Amino acid sequence: MTGFSAQWLALREPADHRARHPGLCAQMTAYFNTAESGLGRTAERPFRMVDLGCGSGSNLRAIAPALPAHQHWTLVDYDPALLMAARHALSQWADQVQVSDARPHSITLVKDHKHIEVTFLQEDLAVNVERVLAMPTDLVTAAAFFDLVSPDWLVRFCQALTVPLYTVLTYDGTEIWTPPHAADQKMLQAFHAHQATDKGFGLSAGPDATDILRMALTARGFDVQVGSSPWQLGVSDRDLMSALASGSANAVAETKLVANEDRQDWLSARLRAQSCQIGHWDLFATPS
Ligand SMILES: C[S@@+](CC[C@H](N)C(=O)[O-])C[C@H]1O[C@@H](n2cnc3c(N)ncnc32)[C@H](O)[C@@H]1O
Repeated sequence: MTGFSAQWLALREPADHRARHPGLCAQMTAYFNTAESGLGRTAERPFRMVDLGCGSGSNLRAIAPALPAHQHWTLVDYDPALLMAARHALSQWADQVQVSDARPHSITLVKDHKHIEVTFLQEDLAVNVERVLAMPTDLVTAAAFFDLVSPDWLVRFCQALTVPLYTVLTYDGTEIWTPPHAADQKMLQAFHAHQATDKGFGLSAGPDATDILRMALTARGFDVQVGSSPWQLGVSDRDLMSALASGSANAVAETKLVANEDRQDWLSARLRAQSCQIGHWDLFATPS
């Protein structure tokens, strides 16, 4: 449905988790520890998160250890196959799983003594983001999502946001492959042209997404912190680097901006690359 397969998301998950900016995550945890009483949260009332474009649940698996012991997550995606994959992957990840016939769209997990309720919500965020943001929540989060959406949608999202936002792994447009190749620059430009196409939200913001979020949230009085979170891939990430190179080459082929011969030469070099760094931004924003 979206072009994001559960296999691709599983392949990138270890690199995604390594890349996250540790200082920003610590800041987010400290904010909620300090703000705990202000949130009116009690032991009975779980800490509530909404994860936009959850895929197979990688973001929950990364953040849950840094959050309070009793959590409720709403995982939102419009792809039912990915929501099923999330349910499966989270059940495998947890130490204990409870399901109830009375709540078919939810599961309750125990992981490292944390009690985590998860509700799966199929929703098209291009259409219904305001409805999702109107749900009672303490934190909105997303991973590898905001570069897919349009500048107009980002502004709309920021207008509807009333709680803290913690978003990670928004592509920043930089890629450094080693060793370098003569076609690197034109391949990257063509890849950016492909990235800017419509992914269901209007023409995508791509690498501009973090700047647009930062400006729109600052204008609304949010305090916004940004930290870089590049993928640092080496020979031990061979499968991910190869999938990335093949995916880029396919995207570039669709643009017809690079001659076939140059593209194929670039791809065969990249399938043997020693390392690559792909830039991302993480962002934590709190309402004043
Ligand atoms: C790059 S994947 C990231 C998945 C996950 N957050 C992760 O870090 O592994 C982008 C996700 O956004 C979801 N998505 C794309 N368009 C969407 C839409 N219109 N409504 C809801 N989810 C959408 C995709 O199905 C996919 O799961």
